[in-house]
Amino acid sequence: MAAPEIRRVGVVGLGAMGAGIAQLAIQAGYETVGREVTDELGTKANDRIAHFLQRKVDKEQMTTAERESALAALTLTTELADLVDCDLVIEAIVEDLGPKLELFAELERIVRPDAVLATNTSALSVTEIAAATSSPERVVGMHFFNPAPLMPLVEIVRAELSSDDAMDAAFAVGERMGKRPIRCHDTPGFVVNRVLIPLLNDCLRVLDEARVSPEDLDTAMTAGAGWPMGPCTLVDLVGIDVHVHASEALYEKLREPRMAPPPRIVAMKNAGLLGRKSGRGFYTYD
Ligand SMILES: NC(=O)c1ccc[n+]([C@@H]2O[C@H](COP(=O)([O-])OP(=O)(O)OC[C@H]3O[C@@H](n4cnc5c(N)ncnc54)[C@H](O)[C@@H]3O)[C@@H](O)[C@H]2O)c1
Repeated sequence: MAAPEIRRVGVVGLGAMGAGIAQLAIQAGYETVGREVTDELGTKANDRIAHFLQRKVDKEQMTTAERESALAALTLTTELADLVDCDLVIEAIVEDLGPKLELFAELERIVRPDAVLATNTSALSVTEIAAATSSPERVVGMHFFNPAPLMPLVEIVRAELSSDDAMDAAFAVGERMGKRPIRCHDTPGFVVNRVLIPLLNDCLRVLDEARVSPEDLDTAMTAGAGWPMGPCTLVDLVGIDVHVHASEALYEKLREPRMAPPPRIVAMKNAGLLGRKSGRGFYTYD
């Protein structure tokens, strides 16, 4: 299969990640079709994108005309069938294998046989998702980081049967979106999370072991190790529920004790202390 030239991009799921990916796609000049499960959710995502592009205009990073033409390139739908002419579809729906398998099997019936299918999964196996289709060679991972419009990295993930063409096409799209793509194979956590999750869990264990405060731990890692942000600040930003989920997923796959979420952070999750998004985590937010 020769991968097509990518002109039209589909994004399925316009939540935290999907809306950011759709924004990147329209900023890069792709005709983009965004699919949400309801019109209300689609409109909400569109409003968020319009808001972020307005901020770019305000900061003189974009002209009003560029903003308008970017927004005009985005079509919203609730119908998967409207992805029919897409050359690349990026999936960013809920992090559950069942719905992703169902979606990929359905996408395969809708898009052209040479269209590339990408998943933004953080912790599931891209190979397993690809196996829901009869053409796994066209399936790759495109793992963006949150917030997608701002974080420079995208991991382009080669599943067991991904073709070079599909990898190259996804890599080129990442570059055109202004990202710094890297290639890696489909292993649990890919590159960044494989390194970062156990490291953050070590940091959180040190809170109790060394009886250090979150503020002092953050100071230790920023002032002593040159981290741009302390681990407690980072976990609050990522979301304590998201961090626990990613830790559990990696632990389930690798069975390395360092991957398992420390009990303290599981208790925080259960108490609804989710970090920035709930107003309270290691720190309190307005
Ligand atoms: N949030 C992060 O930090 C982050 C970072 C990298 C990758 N990811 C991955 O991106 C994907 C999306 O995560 P998110 O944080 O944007 O989630 P989210 O909950 O913000 O958005 C998920 C979207 O999928 C839609 N959806 C839910 N169930 C669906 C279904 N059965 N069929 C179709 N659509 C459905 C929802 O309407 C929602 O808009 C996940 O696979 C996640 O692991 C998340």
